[in-house]
Amino acid sequence: MTASLRSDNQAVGAEFTVRPYRSSDRQAVRQLAGEDEFGRPYLASKYSGYREYLADSVSHYYDLEPESMFIAESDGAVIGNLLGAVDTKATEKRQATHTHHLRRKRLLTGGYGLPFWLIKVIRSERVPTITRAPYVDPAEYPAHLHIGVNRKWRRRGIGSALMTAYENYLRSRGVAGYHLYASSFHYQGMSFYRKFGLEELGQFLWHFYDGRRWIIVTETVFVRSLSSN
Ligand SMILES: CC(C)(COP(=O)(O)OP(=O)(O)OC[C@H]1O[C@@H](n2cnc3c(N)ncnc32)[C@H](O)[C@@H]1OP(=O)(O)O)[C@@H](O)C(=O)NCCC(=O)NCCS
Repeated sequence: MTASLRSDNQAVGAEFTVRPYRSSDRQAVRQLAGEDEFGRPYLASKYSGYREYLADSVSHYYDLEPESMFIAESDGAVIGNLLGAVDTKATEKRQATHTHHLRRKRLLTGGYGLPFWLIKVIRSERVPTITRAPYVDPAEYPAHLHIGVNRKWRRRGIGSALMTAYENYLRSRGVAGYHLYASSFHYQGMSFYRKFGLEELGQFLWHFYDGRRWIIVTETVFVRSLSSN
């Protein structure tokens, strides 16, 4: 179902609505972040502490830049979300302070249980890439995003409606463009971004700990300029 967009950044379809994030969505957004169906499903299904860790890992979006987030809703339930950031450089700094600080605090106070998985997960985040990542020009593509739709609701146009709402928002703020990273295990995301018409800037390889073993993942960098369309 394709949603029609209203000028106030809300999209209305017969079955769902896309609207800006509200603070009351926080728990639902945390839950979606903790699902990790494709990255480390083994850890996500087995350890609530890992799901908490993932939910905390995106806290700089909902705590510090909620105005750049969009929600898909049906009958009052959150069925999808888009976590955006207009200035990736600034976001990375906030992540290094706010989010890393929160994770450290929760680790030390037992918020993740006894996380023997954590060392490999963190190493996976910091290990040097195998091949060099393509350069993303921060002046051309300053914004970025993460997106997820509840599995029961996929392929009804909700992801596209969230992307369109975000693009409208970025244009309204005069943002030149955005980029995003898609891992090869996110096959739905890969095919979705291609269908949505994003440009592929390049790819690189990196090591990823999937909860049981180390695998090599191909990361594709997608971009879209908003200045010409
Ligand atoms: C990627 C995602 C957000 C797309 O949301 P969606 O609501 O299904 O997207 P839409 O319905 O607007 O667009 C669907 C298009 O995406 C592509 N697509 C989505 N799922 C697909 C699948 N399982 N297989 C092949 N193509 C798929 C198709 O091109 C599809 O168009 P079609 O239905 O006309 O063939 C959703 O699949 C999702 O949340 N996946 C898990 C999380 C994820 O991968 N996030 C991206 C991480 S980089």
